[in-house]
Amino acid sequence: MSRYLNMSSLKILSLAALLTVSMGSGVAMAKDTVKDKGVGHYGYGKSATAEEIAGWDIDIRPDGRGLPAGSGSVEDGEMLYEDKCASCHGSFGEGVGKYPVLAGGQDTLTEERPEKTVGSFWAHTSTLYDYIRRAMPFPQPESLSDEETYAITAYVLYLNDLVEDDFVLSQETWDEVAKLPNNPNFVPDPRPDTHAKRCMSDCKKEVKIVSEPTISAEEVAAADDTVVKAAAGNEEGAGVYNGACAACHNLGVAGAPRLGDTAAWKARIAQGEETLIKHALEGFQGDAGMMPAKGGRMDLSDEDVTAAVKFMLVESK
Ligand code: HEC
Ligand code: HEC
Repeated sequence: MSRYLNMSSLKILSLAALLTVSMGSGVAMAKDTVKDKGVGHYGYGKSATAEEIAGWDIDIRPDGRGLPAGSGSVEDGEMLYEDKCASCHGSFGEGVGKYPVLAGGQDTLTEERPEKTVGSFWAHTSTLYDYIRRAMPFPQPESLSDEETYAITAYVLYLNDLVEDDFVLSQETWDEVAKLPNNPNFVPDPRPDTHAKRCMSDCKKEVKIVSEPTISAEEVAAADDTVVKAAAGNEEGAGVYNGACAACHNLGVAGAPRLGDTAAWKARIAQGEETLIKHALEGFQGDAGMMPAKGGRMDLSDEDVTAAVKFMLVESK
């Protein structure tokens, strides 16, 4: 995820710079023009024009939305890369000195010192295009044309063995390379949102924070037993349950109905199996909390999740 943090901190930096500039000139504007009295809460500045917004609105989404017209080939990219990038990133993307490595590093992510490159770690080609266009070459950011950026992006993909040497990158070919090899290993964060309500009246004057164990050692042991015992009936469902659902449903984390807690499941079961399966597949926001789609494990098939639900229902009747 550091990729996204990196990108957004870049954006925040540029935004801060933009604000400083526009605030400064905004003061002068407010004095000079009677008509434009300034906008917003403090009456400073002016509304950005469509043209100004277009200048800053250059991000590209993973699916290619936001890509400019034009194209660029691996062949053209090679010369441009050699000229503008190789001095720091190396002719093969191997990195010169301490400059970042852009290619290679496959199968190193589980090692103690993983080599995180475009080919081994990054999730989306949009990040690559956007990063190069916005920030590279390091000494002359935003100096590349759209076509040059296409060509160099294509070449970096080529250095990672992701395209052939006759590949041309454009809006038309985007889908072929939009997702980078490590993409499936980026998963949605399954932790549910908290639903804290702010107190507006009759609030407690003093809040004492105490910590009490809510689950006894016996209950933990019992929950473990339940899983072992159940595996006999529907082994596939039990397996999925143990791997993807038990973290919340064994002990009732974050409002999840506990496995085997017939009282907690009675009304749910009354909705019918179909509804419960649908809720497990698509996610479900109830009064108790948030059931993430597939328990946050989007890698599971619909059949896996269905088997897990069936297992849970048998155990909780
Ligand atoms: C003068 C040296 C220099 C040149 C020339 C240069 N870069 Fe970089 N590049 C850097 C540095 C330094 C970073 C790390 C910046 C950071 O992390 O803030 C970087 C980061 C990158 C990254 C992100 C790497 C990662 O894994 O985080 C990419 C992709 C990249 N450069 C591509 C290019 C391309 C393409 C060119 C040519 C158009 C280029 N760079 C030219 C110095 C350079
Ligand atoms: C991050 C915690 C979490 C994980 C992981 C999780 N659940 Fe849930 N689940 C919940 C919560 C919370 C609810 C209760 C939502 C409510 O009713 O407010 C719930 C409810 C359910 C329900 C009842 C839905 C209904 O309509 O009453 C089913 C069925 C279910 N989960 C199945 C699964 C399956 C199958 C898995 C694993 C593939 C799974 N859950 C993984 C938190 C989780």
